[in-house]
Amino acid sequence: MYTNPADPSSRPGVTVPDLRRMKTAGERIASLTAYDASFARAMDAAGIDAVLVGDSLGMVMQGGTNTVSVALEDMVYHSRCVAKGLRSALLIADMPFQTYASPERALDAATALLAEGLASMVKLEGAGFVLDAIEHLTTREIPVCAHLGLTPQSVLRMGGFKVQGRDAKAAQALLTQAKQVEAAGAQLLMLECVPSSLAAEITRSISIPTIGIGAGPECDGQILVSYDALGINTGHRRPRFVKDFLKGRDSIEAAFNAYVSEVKSGSFPQAEHGYA
Ligand code: KIV
Repeated sequence: MYTNPADPSSRPGVTVPDLRRMKTAGERIASLTAYDASFARAMDAAGIDAVLVGDSLGMVMQGGTNTVSVALEDMVYHSRCVAKGLRSALLIADMPFQTYASPERALDAATALLAEGLASMVKLEGAGFVLDAIEHLTTREIPVCAHLGLTPQSVLRMGGFKVQGRDAKAAQALLTQAKQVEAAGAQLLMLECVPSSLAAEITRSISIPTIGIGAGPECDGQILVSYDALGINTGHRRPRFVKDFLKGRDSIEAAFNAYVSEVKSGSFPQAEHGYA
């Protein structure tokens, strides 16, 4: 971790290598999504380790039914806003639909997210052809977070937002993909809506940290869409892995503090938040 010498009151900044160090030390990684500077500032003050500018902004901010219509310009704009609110947390930005359809396109899009959006890492969904893009980016000094399981940009093919990896064949395929994204150079893996036992097995089988959302308590870290963590009605069905941290508290700051502390202590998520 690095400290800003100009600001002795700041906690050390979280770097990409810190994530692996946290996994090795058994220190849970707390993460939330953010789309603007004020929420980012409140999360950062609560001690969040990583903030994701998710393309979920297409749903929670833009009111869409999925993330497919989010543009690179939207991501760059919101990433830059979030960056202004952060002092310590690592900033990860989502690569929008089709911006990594080829390694060359991926490099252009990721460069914009780092150089203009001020992110420190980019997130790509899937394996298969995406492995080439991951390798292309990571060999060019662009840190990558992979994303497996329910990959929302695949919603049209999947026919909805459904739990993945439930049968033995699909579980084995996900385990293989997790090893492939690590081999391609990814330094972090997000696991969305997979059975808790499978997420635990993947977490034990790879050396990069896993961050779960609907993936049970045994991932190396957890993430929630911040609007869900605050109980905001986004017009979508509330999945079982969501917990309203504002309930019973009187401020957004208190809710973010509770989220960080429950993730760090391992009291969130509980078994009931996961899938079998
Ligand atoms: O876009 C998003 O918010 C995500 C979630 C998995 C956190 O990718």
